[in-house]
Amino acid sequence: MCGIVGYVGLGHTLDGKEFGHGAYDVLLEGLRRQEYRGYDSAGVAVIGDEGIEYRKKAGKLVNLANEVEAHPLSESNIGIGHTRWATHGGPTDANAHPHVVDGGKMAVVHNGIIENFAELRTELLAEGVEFKSETDTEIAANLIASIYNKLEDKNLTEALRLASNRLEGAFTILAIHADHKDEVVATRRNSPLVIGLGENENFLGSDVSGFIDYTKSAVEMGQDQIVTITATSYSIIDFEGNAAEGKPYAIEWDAAAAEKGGFDSFMEKEIHEQPAAVRDTLMGRFDEKGNLTLDELKIDDSILRSIDKIIVVACGTAAYAGQVARYAIEHWCRIPTEVELAHEFRYRDPIVNEKTLVVSLSQSGETMDTLMAVRHAQEQGAKVVSICNTTGSTLPRESDAALYTHAGPEIAVASTKAFLSQIAAAYLLGLYLAQLRGNMYKDEIQSVLKELQAMPEKIQAILDNEQQIKDLGIEMKDSDSVLFLGRHVGFPVALEGALKLKEIAYIHAEGFAAGELKHGPIALVEEGQPIFVVVPSPRGRDSLHSKVVSNIQEVRARGAVTIVIAEEGDSTVEPYSNHIIRYPQCPTLLQPLLATVPLQIFACALSGAKGLDVDQPRNLAKSVTVE
Ligand code: F6R
Repeated sequence: MCGIVGYVGLGHTLDGKEFGHGAYDVLLEGLRRQEYRGYDSAGVAVIGDEGIEYRKKAGKLVNLANEVEAHPLSESNIGIGHTRWATHGGPTDANAHPHVVDGGKMAVVHNGIIENFAELRTELLAEGVEFKSETDTEIAANLIASIYNKLEDKNLTEALRLASNRLEGAFTILAIHADHKDEVVATRRNSPLVIGLGENENFLGSDVSGFIDYTKSAVEMGQDQIVTITATSYSIIDFEGNAAEGKPYAIEWDAAAAEKGGFDSFMEKEIHEQPAAVRDTLMGRFDEKGNLTLDELKIDDSILRSIDKIIVVACGTAAYAGQVARYAIEHWCRIPTEVELAHEFRYRDPIVNEKTLVVSLSQSGETMDTLMAVRHAQEQGAKVVSICNTTGSTLPRESDAALYTHAGPEIAVASTKAFLSQIAAAYLLGLYLAQLRGNMYKDEIQSVLKELQAMPEKIQAILDNEQQIKDLGIEMKDSDSVLFLGRHVGFPVALEGALKLKEIAYIHAEGFAAGELKHGPIALVEEGQPIFVVVPSPRGRDSLHSKVVSNIQEVRARGAVTIVIAEEGDSTVEPYSNHIIRYPQCPTLLQPLLATVPLQIFACALSGAKGLDVDQPRNLAKSVTVE
């Protein structure tokens, strides 16, 4: 939610040598790459010879670029930028960031929510401050300016530090000041911020995509910290003013990975990256003999052996990955496993103690609801493992152990490859616990690992036959309601299929447990109602397969148009299917890694056929960093 960039360089040239880049170019590129974090409005501020200059525009980034083209900014080597997902105040030019205060001398951008904005506003009004927008950011900006002006030494870093101690809520705030032409200062609490280190230029970003074009060297910051960057240095302090250390790391993603690479949308590209995403997530985590070695799992074996409950916390698609994983983990480890939406978990007074292992699933590692759930669990003594796709993000940093998925950058708002990688990683965790606790024989584990290793090729086989699914998506573009049924691991797959369609095609879609059909949802079925049915393997538990086939018959008998996702060779579904989409044979527990793919392709094609913005659906943003 909201993307932030900061830049300071020595300038284009130094001693006749080209150095660094123009601030505006860096900011615009950083915002372009972070636009998936919010796309209601965008803005930049730079320090030119005459002081702060800024441009901001409601709507997508292109509006800002057009504005700057019409009204160019001066050459500058320092600036900040912002792409917004509106919280306080609608997406208007006035509410867009940066907010420029202190008589035009200070510019501020902010990601997060300031919870005590009303109290601060009253205080600042009493000081004579006039507000131009409805945002909490403008209040924070004026607070910083007010504190700054009271400081004898006019120290910008100190002003941000003192202001940070007055702000409640979640925030990453970047500030520049016309009298400090060589530094960008930023503060963070519960909201993401990463430092990028270049040669004679340094960067700030909500995530590394904000500066991935310019450097592979990043520094992770801790909670409640302030960083001051100049072109050649960075220094971090905590909110008490003590010096703090960042954690340097190398960025593995490259800029090309964050381009569409010939596909119409990032989502389509990311769907096609799934064989690699799953392969990379599995890679290096077990040897040829099938011994799992999760070196990252830095929790004592004795603690992992004593765990008597697992709670998976996550939101949205990641929570569906958790639901899939529960079937496998309980089956393999015989540990009671709950899956809970992170925002519900925290507020229901859950029973958590030292014997509970909490597993958080998150692509971004910044989802505030999940982060809060994790903190709550840790307070109760639970150990936390975070399965995450983003190095340097908050969730893995705050957890006892992190298991990274290696899906590469996921840019499309609708999650695809992260989902499959989360399932793969959670399965590795389940197998590891089973190995450690002696719940499975070695050859059983080896056999699952072998099947897992075969999945990338099977996913590819579905992608190779995607045209049938795309055609169906195009044909069904005028549908106004689509239902999804699944059972066992197919149930979360049905939920995920419905979520994809809702979020990118704005079609009413619902997923049901197939067994629930006769308890209510079947009343929705009328002539022509499209229903996807995820059918388990006929080679798995026989009763499961035949029950789902009965469900297909039941809805068909009431006029539904059935789109059946069935295993290759399963002929029993043929008489009751209007359309059949095949997935390669695999064990039941691994089926979600295949059966989900056609549903993603379908939603993507349908959204495209409707002429919608597949990657940036309305009202959404990629990482939900506010509660
Ligand atoms: C749906 C989607 C969201 C995310 C959810 C959690 O396509 O992307 O439902 O899965 O917001 O995000 P992360 O995984 O970043 O915690």
